[in-house]
Amino acid sequence: MRAKVISFVQMKGGAGKTTLCANIASTLSDKSNVLMIDTDHPQSSLENWFNIRNDKYVIENLDIVSAKNLSQLQKYVRDNIDNYDYILIDGHPRITNLTRAVVLLSDLALIPLSPSQVEVWSTQHLAEIVDEAQKINPNLVARICWNRYRVRTNSAEQVVAEAKQQLKLEDFPTKLGNRVAYLDSFAAGLTVAEWHDAAAKLEIWSLTSNIQRLLEKQANSRLKTENQVDKFAKGK
Ligand SMILES: Nc1ncnc2c1ncn2[C@@H]1O[C@H](COP(=O)(O)OP(=O)(O)OP(=O)(O)O)[C@@H](O)[C@H]1O
Ligand SMILES: [Mg+2]
Repeated sequence: MRAKVISFVQMKGGAGKTTLCANIASTLSDKSNVLMIDTDHPQSSLENWFNIRNDKYVIENLDIVSAKNLSQLQKYVRDNIDNYDYILIDGHPRITNLTRAVVLLSDLALIPLSPSQVEVWSTQHLAEIVDEAQKINPNLVARICWNRYRVRTNSAEQVVAEAKQQLKLEDFPTKLGNRVAYLDSFAAGLTVAEWHDAAAKLEIWSLTSNIQRLLEKQANSRLKTENQVDKFAKGK
């Protein structure tokens, strides 16, 4: 069976794309073979995290490549689609041809969002691209993942309730809290599963199993052709 492609997309910088990508990739790699594609050159924080990890520990079932442009992205996805169980793509914080291609190539586009109205507004354009991509790839699933969530605050609950309607996107039931563990574990080349914060650990395990269940239910579809992806990337 071909790899499931999960992307982390959000034009807002610092939303949590790379943090989520590293944590979910590592959790999936406990039982599956996972390839990560870093598209955020030259910031390359995912690659930096992987290099720190690789220097200190033995990494199994988890590889990384860096795609600097659309043709490299296409090549890495196509060359590896039958060699891995999951391909996770870390997006960059802009809407570009590359971001459009990442969305179309995905089985699941995960959109990290913090519960603020301003951030919901700035996600509108991305939601439109998802909608456009779903016309070509009806199996594409997109989900908001609430990050830095403030529990028991009315404003957060209200934003969550309204965002789903405004963006016409569903969300994951698991919400990630604002926790230093995400920051500190990443800087040490680790994940929250390897850190001393039980709440963060549970969040990532629960989110990863939300994702697995969603993908198991999804019908198997073929990857879109190189031509289709190129055309969509250019907005044609
Ligand atoms: N739930 C969280 N709690 C606390 N800190 C978090 C959380 N999620 C992310 N962060 C921190 O916020 C910063 C930005 O996160 P991250 O780099 O994952 O965002 P990004 O969307 O990949 O950013 P960019 O668009 O610049 O690539 C990092 O320092 C990260 O450790
Ligand atoms: Mg990033």
